[in-house]
Amino acid sequence: EKGGYDHYMVKEIYEQPKAVRDTLSGRVTEDSSRVVLSELGWTEKEIKQIDRIHIVACGTSYHAGLVGKAAIEKLAHIPVDVEVASEYRYRDPIMTKHTLILVISQSGETADTLAALRKAKENGHRVVAITNVVGSSVAREADHAIFTWAGPEISVASTKAYTTQLIALYVFAIYLGQSLQTVDSDVSAELVRELQTLPRKLDAVLETAPQIEEIAQVFATWDDAFFLGRGIDYFVALEGALKYKEISYIHAEAYPAGELKHGTLALIVENVPVIALVTQDVLYEKSLSNIKEVKARDAYVLGIAWAGDEEIGKSVDRVLYVPRTLPFFAPVMLIAPLQLLAYYASVARGNDVDKPRNLAKSVTVE
Ligand code: F6R
Repeated sequence: EKGGYDHYMVKEIYEQPKAVRDTLSGRVTEDSSRVVLSELGWTEKEIKQIDRIHIVACGTSYHAGLVGKAAIEKLAHIPVDVEVASEYRYRDPIMTKHTLILVISQSGETADTLAALRKAKENGHRVVAITNVVGSSVAREADHAIFTWAGPEISVASTKAYTTQLIALYVFAIYLGQSLQTVDSDVSAELVRELQTLPRKLDAVLETAPQIEEIAQVFATWDDAFFLGRGIDYFVALEGALKYKEISYIHAEAYPAGELKHGTLALIVENVPVIALVTQDVLYEKSLSNIKEVKARDAYVLGIAWAGDEEIGKSVDRVLYVPRTLPFFAPVMLIAPLQLLAYYASVARGNDVDKPRNLAKSVTVE
């Protein structure tokens, strides 16, 4: 049932191009100029009323939510807060009458996320769920469900669910921007067309797996890893570090690259592995200078950057290139190498990749 793969995780990593295609399917107009989200059935008036969005989720889904915030704020100009569900459910966040709650849950059964959804509904708020499981509690109880079409995810470490959550969030953000006219029609058409290229580009990323396997074998001999990025890259760094620690059992931390010097740089010494994500063009020079800071302390730096970026190639010990897309969609390109890095490090350490110790696929208790 693993279709010739050694583990579900790697099978699911390779299913991502198809999962992205399926999640986009039916959500783009025939001329590729606009997105469609008929499952929401919202009137223009209802969309205009949304003055605030709270994204609530756990773990990997929370990391997707961080990217969602960036997308929604940029395209729809609606302020968004993102919070882990176990915190959100026990406090009294400031809400307006028309604050929209967006819960994200692969399984649709995560206890804290479900509790946050129920509390929001009790208080009269509208809830949209992004979930992978039709018929799940979250899908049934939310006012609207946007399904990700990743197919069943068996491995405990979430991979294709995250990628399709990103796609659903991009579609949702473009949809809001289109409806509110906060994004020009030619810009949204460019976004939509670019979204449709992502499966093909993801295929190209997956072809670099042998290189990543070789790097992971070295990384697996070290006891730490630091994942750095700025802007959206930082949100992917968080997900990369989570993936790495949960299946390789190696200590990993994600840091906004500019924050290092406020304490963490003390840990960067000779041969400490650093994974530097560098795709955000406006932050390029800043990221480069952070790489120089860690190189000056003899860290071992693996850079992940756009194909053709020779400058990064010269500044790091190893570089992995991903096909260029809009900086906005970089997470879809960056996450695959990070998933594979975690996967091969876990295999190299002889761990039970699909069932990491102490973890369950669906966290249905608090
Ligand atoms: C990590 C992972 C978890 C889940 C989290 C939320 O690889 O899988 O962090 O993302 O438990 O699960 P869902 O999305 O089912 O609510």
